[in-house]
Amino acid sequence: MRFSGKVVKGMGLGKGLGFPTFNLDARPQLEHGVYAVQAFVGGVFACPHNALMHYGPKPSVGRDDIFCEVYFLKFPEGLEVDALEIEVLGKLRDVMKFDGLEALVEQMKKDEEEARERYFGGEV
Ligand SMILES: Cc1cc2nc3c(=O)[nH]c(=O)nc-3n(C[C@H](O)[C@H](O)[C@H](O)COP(=O)(O)O)c2cc1C
Repeated sequence: MRFSGKVVKGMGLGKGLGFPTFNLDARPQLEHGVYAVQAFVGGVFACPHNALMHYGPKPSVGRDDIFCEVYFLKFPEGLEVDALEIEVLGKLRDVMKFDGLEALVEQMKKDEEEARERYFGGEV
């Protein structure tokens, strides 16, 4: 499944957590959850970047509205991103409510590890 979206401004929390994300305006026909994806930047000749996507509400930070956020495992310095095309590889888990940001960050690290092993061939 593939879709594209424009980058919109997020809450700006992710950077401080070590998981900076691009917020997309897209609302794909997908169950809410955390996914392993490939993100393509910049049109026809774009190459894929391994990434994680959070799609759904953010109960851990008290938000019931829907977000589509993409975190690059290895972000190329200086790359300008105003839109992304996303190819969904597979679902890692459902959205969960964590007591505090520390627990959320712990889980995001596990998500990254799992995606690396299951979808990215052990690579970054
Ligand atoms: C891989 C990944 C998994 C996430 N999983 C959850 C989750 O299970 N529950 C949740 O409330 N938020 C989850 N989030 C969203 C974070 O709450 C969000 O990225 C954080 O609040 C920073 O948002 P901001 O950069 O828009 O401020 C996840 C984000 C990422 C990148």
